[in-house]
Amino acid sequence: MTSTPQPPPSHDIVGIGFGPSNVALAIGLREQRERAAADPAVPAVSGVFHERQEHFGWHRGMLLDDATMQVSFLKDLVTTRNPASDFSFLCYLSSVGRLHDFINHKTLFPLRTEFHDYLAWCAGRVADQVRYSSEVVAVEPVRDAAGRVAQLDVVTRRADGSLERSRGRNLVFAPGLSPRLPDGVTAGERVWHSEYLLHRLGELDPGAAPRRFVVVGAGQSAAEVADHLYRRFPGAEVNAVFSRYGYSPSDDSPFANRIFDPEAVDTYFDSSADVRAEIMGYHRNTNYSVVDPDLIDALYRASYQDKVNGQERLRLHNTSRVAGVNERPDGVTVTVEHLPSGKQTPIEADYAVFATGYRPGDPRDLLGDLAGHVVTDPQGRPAVERDYRLATSDELTCGIYLQGGTEHTHGISSSLLSNVAVRVGLILDAVAARLPSAATVPAQGR
Ligand code: FDA
Ligand code: NAP
Repeated sequence: MTSTPQPPPSHDIVGIGFGPSNVALAIGLREQRERAAADPAVPAVSGVFHERQEHFGWHRGMLLDDATMQVSFLKDLVTTRNPASDFSFLCYLSSVGRLHDFINHKTLFPLRTEFHDYLAWCAGRVADQVRYSSEVVAVEPVRDAAGRVAQLDVVTRRADGSLERSRGRNLVFAPGLSPRLPDGVTAGERVWHSEYLLHRLGELDPGAAPRRFVVVGAGQSAAEVADHLYRRFPGAEVNAVFSRYGYSPSDDSPFANRIFDPEAVDTYFDSSADVRAEIMGYHRNTNYSVVDPDLIDALYRASYQDKVNGQERLRLHNTSRVAGVNERPDGVTVTVEHLPSGKQTPIEADYAVFATGYRPGDPRDLLGDLAGHVVTDPQGRPAVERDYRLATSDELTCGIYLQGGTEHTHGISSSLLSNVAVRVGLILDAVAARLPSAATVPAQGR
């Protein structure tokens, strides 16, 4: 006689990924449970999160020593949702004994290394809700007596290769962004995406003295990589290749900055497709393909000093594109095409770093057959409700919520930290409002 395997315990929320977005959600869950303990009218919401990394890490490959945040510390994981939360950046500063030092610093933009430490401090305080080294590889339906998908099983692969399941009445996808390489370019020993810069540099022989780098792109990552390589390898030439005439400043002025406010998400969400495209066109330069003005100044100063000293180490190949990449065991040839003249020039480099941006995750990649139940817009993109719930056919009564991957519906702050705290509050409210009165939805198998 064989025994029937026990179904995994059910959670109100199973989270995919444990970056800032889902750490903020875990904090929201904890605060909600604390309120529920004091007030029976407040529902307690349970959750478990899966993170494929061994421990918390936020874009570690770009955690450059002197890079600063691109968002005010007041847009931390909690403050705009709950200014009284003890998970704020200010509470973190107080706990590490730097509150007064930070105040004297008179900045809204901490170092990224410091903000990483803040995020790790938050993640550590809600560690009871997360499983690390746990990569979500599939999502499977759990049907109720009526045949509807009332819950979902999240299948995770552990570090030893074993598979486990977590069952949830709701999923919250927050897998972040995936590095994007230009068509025809493949990552290799000498061809890197900026996302892995510090990992790849850390693997170099300590005695290695690269002579020449190529850095592709003109966004914040590209400028930071060019600056880092230029200063870290004083004997090396850094060739920056991009299609613009020059690095262009990010618009951080106060009226334009309102594009990151929660009200701007309402405006964007309520707009027609044409108006959304216009808004995005006007304000792309608050975030994409733009660089912090201080860093532009630093790069210009370096390039001018080079000219004065007669030794040009920072070479700008503007109005240019990469026409070909040929990686060999001993180097990489990057063919650069000057767009106005069409002239092609090969650059023999030790390493080429592509700071060519990211693409958002698509929940359908993990949903298997369930992806067919996702409602799509005319461009084939997932339709998403204002409360970040994925629109699905009525056959799915469980909730699937998205943190990220909603730029087409919720606007430019979707992939950023600006709205994380407020977004988490909306998702929590939506989940709590739909909790079944009975704690467990009877599952009839898959
Ligand atoms: P994030 O990518 O941080 O986290 C997703 C997590 O999910 C990762 O830990 C990943 O390992 C995990 N994961 C993915 N798939 C999984 C799976 N199948 N199973 C289990 N785990 C999985 N924004 C901003 O507002 N201000 C800023 O200063 C910056 N700075 C910045 C610097 C750099 C170098 C980059 C590349 C980006 C930024 N950003 C930013 C934008 C950035 O998207 C944002 O800061 C957050 O990382 C978004 O947090 P998320 O949790 O949504 O994604
Ligand atoms: P990005 O802003 O999307 O910039 C990508 C760059 O790559 C652009 O210059 C783009 O050029 C170029 N590019 C794209 N495809 C290309 C191709 N096929 N060939 C040649 N060039 C190509 O990406 P990012 O700089 O990585 O920034 C992403 C996000 O991370 C932003 O939100 C940014 O603020 C954030 N970030 C923050 C920090 C920090 O906090 N300190 C650091 C790094 C990044 P075109 O414009 O010509 O297409």
